Amino acid sequence: MVSFRLVGLAAASLLVAFGVLAPATARNPVKARVSFQSQVKPIFASKCIGCHSKSSPGGGLALDSTAGIKKGGDSGKLYVAGKSSQSLITKRLKGEGGERMPYGGAALPAAQINLVKKWIDEGAKF
Ligand code: HEC
Repeated sequence: MVSFRLVGLAAASLLVAFGVLAPATARNPVKARVSFQSQVKPIFASKCIGCHSKSSPGGGLALDSTAGIKKGGDSGKLYVAGKSSQSLITKRLKGEGGERMPYGGAALPAAQINLVKKWIDEGAKF
């Protein structure tokens, strides 16, 4: 019981930290929306674009531009706005329906996967 609570607390404080870091939402951290520019883009930049850029798009997918992210890859759209569980990126980050991404590397921390999911569920705004 206690350890579950601690995990919950840790997750909650992470969420608060992300909320506080997002300048546009600092005044209302409880309803903080995920910011593509300050929260999602840095994940793609550090973990994905080595293999998913315009000059070298693994699986036909370029994550280094808004156009590339909107276009998706060889399998189609990267996400269904509002529906993270049906989105290709969520599946691949979990290793469902193909190799887990980042390919050959460690899985993203749950907090980062949840940020990407939340961004999609909030409508995938740029
Ligand atoms: C080391 C190289 C590498 C890294 C890093 C990497 N990928 Fe990939 N990715 C690939 C390759 C190669 C493919 C194509 C083969 C496949 O589908 O497994 C691919 C395919 C994909 C696809 C399927 C594209 C399609 O339409 O078929 C998605 C989605 C994806 N990657 C997302 C990501 C995300 C998000 C990250 C960062 C968290 C990431 N990848 C990091 C190499 C990489």
